[in-house]
Amino acid sequence: MINFTVIDRDGAGKLIEVPEGINLNLMEVLKASEYDILATCGGMALCATCQIEVIRGLENLKPAEDNELNMLDTLPNVSIDSRLACQLSVSEQLEGIIVKINSDLF
Ligand code: FES
Repeated sequence: MINFTVIDRDGAGKLIEVPEGINLNLMEVLKASEYDILATCGGMALCATCQIEVIRGLENLKPAEDNELNMLDTLPNVSIDSRLACQLSVSEQLEGIIVKINSDLF
């Protein structure tokens, strides 16, 4: 199992557990866990509604590719810890990380 912590927009944290080897990205897991994420682009790094802030474990994550960086560059409320959840595959890279949902509700 892969375990990580999600902090919602109200600041409440929850431990999420997902089986290893599932072919999903973090955005899909967050939606399946009933977090309010629109994901209007379906995971193409085009809508930024899955934006998260990585509170712990950023160094464990695969670096962002150009399409993710380009989208993050267009947003007003990003930091160097910001990522798009749809661009993070569910794998060992997520083990132990803490992420905060950082996108606005549109
Ligand atoms: S779901 Fe649209 S950018 Fe991630």
